[in-house]
Amino acid sequence: MGSPHPTILVTGGAGYIGSHAVLALKAAGYDVIVLDNLVYGHRELVESVLQVELVVGDTNDRALLNALFAQRPIAAVLHFAAYAYVGESVLAPAKYYRNNVVGTLTLLEAMQAAGVSALVFSSTCATYGEPSVVPIPEDHPQAPINPYGRSKWMVEQILNDFAEAYGLRSVQFRYFNAAGADPQGRLGEDHDPETHLMPLLLLTALGKRESVSLFGTDYPTADGTCIRDYIHVSDLAMAHVLGLEYLLAGGKTMAVNLGNGHGFSVREVIEMARQVTQRPITVIESARRPGDPPVLVGSSDKARQVLGWQPQYSDLQTIIEHAWQWHQKRHA
Ligand SMILES: NC(=O)c1ccc[n+]([C@@H]2O[C@H](COP(=O)([O-])OP(=O)(O)OC[C@H]3O[C@@H](n4cnc5c(N)ncnc54)[C@H](O)[C@@H]3O)[C@@H](O)[C@H]2O)c1
Repeated sequence: MGSPHPTILVTGGAGYIGSHAVLALKAAGYDVIVLDNLVYGHRELVESVLQVELVVGDTNDRALLNALFAQRPIAAVLHFAAYAYVGESVLAPAKYYRNNVVGTLTLLEAMQAAGVSALVFSSTCATYGEPSVVPIPEDHPQAPINPYGRSKWMVEQILNDFAEAYGLRSVQFRYFNAAGADPQGRLGEDHDPETHLMPLLLLTALGKRESVSLFGTDYPTADGTCIRDYIHVSDLAMAHVLGLEYLLAGGKTMAVNLGNGHGFSVREVIEMARQVTQRPITVIESARRPGDPPVLVGSSDKARQVLGWQPQYSDLQTIIEHAWQWHQKRHA
């Protein structure tokens, strides 16, 4: 490496989780270049908040990647760029395999050609499919039930093969539900369209939406609603810095869950959102959606043990308070 401040390429760094990771990388002393095609990312966040170089481009653009790796002393890549709408992936699988699988393969080939051998990859708990045990450990069988989950699972397998054949090492982080916002209010979740429960509740509290649907009240859980594992985005971001440092120190390829380790039911999240915002939130109860397991909670023991990760913001109230602070500012 040589340099005390290696340069890190962050694909998808203008998006929700990637932008929080850029803040964490900067705080840890890294130089950062963001590559984002801005299909969903936010230019103004990179320019005014992150204040790092933004290359507007696509992971499918091999010539651009070759030029970037040739011109810049990039030591490693954090790869967030992907499409992540499960429902859309069922209707448009080609779009998902091209962007998430082919785009990643293009990036990996460019890295291999340039001799860049460390990558932190955004995988997902959706690679597990319907769990047979909870909390889900990393060695749980992977049987994704939609094209989005399969696209991420395919990339994990490609990464394992690249490690064997070319020595390109990776940490494959399987995130549970990312939530919350930068505690200092600089960044937050700003997806369009929005499909995640917490921002939907907060947008409803702000009067930007009329109501939120609650899918299924007859699950075999204490209050009948699904239980999910919500992990604060800043805790996720910090795990990426640790994963990067593990690879830069020569660590081997591995898959690691990133979750809270504690599940919250949809009703608990709704009630906490009402309490935090002190505003009415209309919820419409409807039937179960196909493919929603009753409980999805991950074990994050490995992240703690192998990477020394210590989440700072695991209680539901704090996660929603930080998200609410951002949403109020964003929609002021
Ligand atoms: N949000 C979650 O709860 C969650 C859970 C599990 C996994 N993930 C994964 O984490 C990653 C980040 O998720 P997010 O919520 O921040 O999404 P996001 O949409 O906010 O960010 C993704 C960014 O990647 C960019 N992008 C997409 N395809 C690109 C391409 N081919 N080339 C360049 N840029 C491209 C988009 O413009 C966007 O800025 C994704 O890979 C997603 O699959 C997210």
